[in-house]
Amino acid sequence: MRTLGIETSCDETALAALDGDGRVLAHLLSSQAAAHAPYLGVVPEIAARHHLEALPRLLDGLAREVPLEGIELVAVTRGPGLIGSLLVGTCFASAWAWARGVPLIGVDHLEGHLVSPFLSLDGAPAREAPGPALTLVVSGGHSSYFLLDGGEARPLNRTRDDAAGEVFDKVAAALGLGYPGGPVIDRLADGGDPRAFGFAPPRIKDPAGALDFSFSGLKTAVMRRAAELAELPLADPEHPPQAVVDLLASFRSTIAEWLLAPLEALVDRHRPRVVAASGGVAANQELRRRLTAWGELRGIEVVLPPPALTTDNAVMIAWAGQLRARRGLLDDPRSLRAYPRAPWKAGADRKGRPVFPAL
Ligand code: KG4
Ligand code: ZN
Repeated sequence: MRTLGIETSCDETALAALDGDGRVLAHLLSSQAAAHAPYLGVVPEIAARHHLEALPRLLDGLAREVPLEGIELVAVTRGPGLIGSLLVGTCFASAWAWARGVPLIGVDHLEGHLVSPFLSLDGAPAREAPGPALTLVVSGGHSSYFLLDGGEARPLNRTRDDAAGEVFDKVAAALGLGYPGGPVIDRLADGGDPRAFGFAPPRIKDPAGALDFSFSGLKTAVMRRAAELAELPLADPEHPPQAVVDLLASFRSTIAEWLLAPLEALVDRHRPRVVAASGGVAANQELRRRLTAWGELRGIEVVLPPPALTTDNAVMIAWAGQLRARRGLLDDPRSLRAYPRAPWKAGADRKGRPVFPAL
């Protein structure tokens, strides 16, 4: 099923066309980072307007690479995300599918991130996730391990406070490093000593063995320490004092370590055949290095998405939609609804009920 994917849940407008085996025929992305940078975060109204302006332009661009007449399915992100942005995307997708008589499927944004490790940008077909697969989804809004098995995805833990990407963004904002913070900190941290600063792990009451994350204490500690080391915001963000660079390296290393801390226990519990990571923070070099090294040591296959597919994109939405459509799940273009908040709660359901009925 040749599929058109549409993603507008946050601040990236993205379109992609995939063939029936999940090969990427074309993918386009219009980033709004520059429009939001002065505000150090995403401004919902600006985001929605940008999507509205960018979508027709991107679709024209896509049509130059892939004939739209051959599209047999439209997949669109329906939530969670910014409601204005989601409405622009779902209305655009619904209208296009309805006008052309092409089937439509709404996809959960997280479902897209969950399948992204199994996609390629080298012209190879997508891989079916071998079950059970243990996948860490780490982005600006989520930090959870999921278990994918038999077409079902189940959240295993969650963060009690900030998401990992949010902490990168907030630390960067406090230091004057701009938005988004993850890529800048990742780059600067390469020049620092990751052992220069240590941080006490959070003390979480965990009688149920949930293995939840907590990052807000780390965020505060890094911000405080940075303020002791230099005047904030930094006068020259491209060249911070070496002590601050060491702090950023230690911060990056600590986040990666804490994200991987539940891994052994979860592997023992669920015996996954592969371990994967996805979401914007899965672009982080330290996290990728540590996870790869862990997999080699443990003899377990580690699957990471190409860096370009870690952050929000339409390729993953198209593929998740195609997997849903294969199971006969379709939506009515006259009544597809967007949702700002996930209808499920990561980590809330410890009874083993599936979150997504089909992947
Ligand atoms: O998946 P994504 O594009 O959007 C959400 O669904 O949230 O993730 C964006 C997040 C941002 O917080 C950004 O700072 C973070 O991913 N990020 C990174 C890196 N690249 C993006 N965090 C750490 N290291 C990176 N290299
Ligand atoms: Zn995302």
